[in-house]
Amino acid sequence: MAEKFDVVDVIRHKRDRLKLSSDEIAWTIDAYTRGVVGDEQMAALAMAIFLNGMDRQEIVEWTNAMIESGERMDFSGLGRVTADKHSTGGVGDKITLPLAPLVAAFGVAVPQLSGRGLGHTGGTLDKLEAIPGWRANLSNEEIMHQLGLEGCGAVICAAGSGLAPADKKLYALRDVTSTVDCIPLISSSIMSKKIAEGTGSLVLDVKVGSGAFMKELEQARELAQTMVDLGTDAGVHTVALLTDMSTPLGLKVGNALEVEESVEVLAGGGPADVVELTLALAREMLSAAGQPDADVEAALKDGRAMDVWRQMIVAQGGDVDAPLPVAKHSHDVVATESGVLETLDALSVGVASWRLGAGRAFQGEPVQAGAGIELFAKPGEEVKKGQKLMTLFTDEEARFERALESLDGGVVIGTAAPAQNSVILDRITRS
Ligand code: URA
Repeated sequence: MAEKFDVVDVIRHKRDRLKLSSDEIAWTIDAYTRGVVGDEQMAALAMAIFLNGMDRQEIVEWTNAMIESGERMDFSGLGRVTADKHSTGGVGDKITLPLAPLVAAFGVAVPQLSGRGLGHTGGTLDKLEAIPGWRANLSNEEIMHQLGLEGCGAVICAAGSGLAPADKKLYALRDVTSTVDCIPLISSSIMSKKIAEGTGSLVLDVKVGSGAFMKELEQARELAQTMVDLGTDAGVHTVALLTDMSTPLGLKVGNALEVEESVEVLAGGGPADVVELTLALAREMLSAAGQPDADVEAALKDGRAMDVWRQMIVAQGGDVDAPLPVAKHSHDVVATESGVLETLDALSVGVASWRLGAGRAFQGEPVQAGAGIELFAKPGEEVKKGQKLMTLFTDEEARFERALESLDGGVVIGTAAPAQNSVILDRITRS
């Protein structure tokens, strides 16, 4: 069958800053999914988009074409309203783990179709796989059962291969062609999966700072607004919080370590920033699901969220009482002088944790469950010379050297206490 377009023309149009037509976009994504457009051609087009951008209409068409490349899930028969959250990814960002059971404790279905880590940001599935026996791959029937009235209402699992397959191919290609951090491509990638998933409402956690894709507040605001508008126009109640990712979230970074910290939060404790963000996102999700007055703090303190967590882990084969893996080797980093911890850079800590073995350098590489970093001081705190600032963990001692290199310049002790701001920087609704 003759093809409707020649991709070389499509690439040239974008290279020459022309607007792509709806037909060109729909054909390109479909032909890429079918293998008619090659990776090298899509890579050239992605770079042209990276350099020359896309307008709102092109982004909408691109997102729709990616949705149409695969199946759509339908949660309308669950008997519960659905609410979802998506984070653009950061260091120590384990919020999905306490958040999903917390929101489900109020009878709302929370489908968290998640991914694995690539590069310095961790992946939710890698974290949960630190729990012995826990299974990430579920069938659509298992997902529906777990979310329904006979299940616990929360599921965190791998997105099936049928959901936005064009994005799966394109995201892997962007990752190796330096075309990830581009607002039209990120927003269409995230929102195509969320719209195809069929959630009733969505809260986006758009990270800002050194450990995030978006380093500047204005960039993050534009990304958040683009995604909120895409979701709202597709009939999904969507809001976004812009949150700080200049320093790691919480005190533990790494797979088993982050599960441990999440359980502390579910037990009513945990670091203030993790608790603050978990509660804020839970309030947004429950408000969108028709429960604006839900007392989320009480559900963390009185064990209701913990009960759902235990059911959710057990339903996916996890041994909720088994000890979590611990790395074979540890190395302490101490303060070289006394003063105020001015900077604890998220990217430096994220890269160090990755180099210790918590993350992967290429798709399919195994990760170490016990690798990562435990922090003992956060920016703004006074530290004394010789005091332990952090402990590094890994199964392979040889990894310490490169991990320590990545911390160079990322830990700054001075005299000025940085402003103790809230982790939440702004809230974005439909423009
Ligand atoms: N997460 C996604 O799913 N896609 C992107 O492009 C970036 C982050």
